[in-house]
Amino acid sequence: MTLETGLEPESGLESGSGSGKNAILEIEDVTLRFGGLVAVSGLSVRVPEGAITGLIGPNGAGKTTVFNVVTGFYRPTQGSVSFRGRTLTGLPPHKVCEAGLARTFQNIRLFHNETVLENVMIGAHVRQRGKWWQTLVPFAFPGALREEEEIRASSMELLSRLGLAAQAGAVSSSLPYGAQRRLEIARALATRPKFLLLDEPAAGMNPQESAELLGFIRRLRDDFDLTILLIEHDMKVVMGVCEHIWVLDRGMLIAEGPPAEIRLNPRVVEAYLGKDVPAAPPEHAGAWGIE
Ligand SMILES: Nc1ncnc2c1ncn2[C@@H]1O[C@H](COP(=O)(O)OP(=O)(O)OP(=O)(O)O)[C@@H](O)[C@H]1O
Ligand SMILES: [Mg+2]
Repeated sequence: MTLETGLEPESGLESGSGSGKNAILEIEDVTLRFGGLVAVSGLSVRVPEGAITGLIGPNGAGKTTVFNVVTGFYRPTQGSVSFRGRTLTGLPPHKVCEAGLARTFQNIRLFHNETVLENVMIGAHVRQRGKWWQTLVPFAFPGALREEEEIRASSMELLSRLGLAAQAGAVSSSLPYGAQRRLEIARALATRPKFLLLDEPAAGMNPQESAELLGFIRRLRDDFDLTILLIEHDMKVVMGVCEHIWVLDRGMLIAEGPPAEIRLNPRVVEAYLGKDVPAAPPEHAGAWGIE
């Protein structure tokens, strides 16, 4: 029995296991407890620079919790996270972002009453040199006004590259679901990250949008010189785009390797089919591709 994806891994993709590549992110023996519940248990993994790594596992396996630990939303009960050799553990989310990591959320988090362009500009302000209030007194701070214009122009450029330029003036909540996911990615890119964490980007997308997501994620990595960590339930996306995959089950790493190995791994198949695994939520229906 295999995890049937309908896709073969793209030929020519290197394994991202780390051999011969420098690890940009290192997670060392991370455990996170919520009271009596161990959401992540003794996780130790490394992400090679430039790789697209997948993080999969049944609902409640601890995937989003790993993102929350890496990006500073949760402090691990035990263990450490380092990025380019610098410890991130204990840093608040905005400091982690300044260090070069940006994320999207499983439940899209946009400023719903702001325009599409404003949402991206908010991301860009992470790198702003001047203070926002300086733009209110332009005679005293002409540089701040110039910088604001640069941010506007670079945010428009990002929207163009992500196919959202025509919607720049629209209120973000008016966008279709798939476009909101792309907007969230645009906002993350505006922070000029080196490392992008995507939490279920295909959730809620229609089949055509999720098929396009494969090429889109690869282009993101190449065009923006990124390392990408991807949580996704859609096996076609995971197996099609990831060079290396980690599998979590009940907080523990039960397998890691290239897609061709993972889809045949009996422990992985068991974890997805196990009786205790909750059913995939409706938006994942049909996307698990398990036979
Ligand atoms: N803030 C929290 N407080 C208490 N328990 C939590 C909290 N966040 C997550 N958990 C629990 O930790 C476990 C792992 O949750 P997590 O959201 O990381 O799973 P996941 O793998 O992302 O699942 P899904 O595929 O459904 O998104 C679950 O049992 C969840 O209920
Ligand atoms: Mg999750």
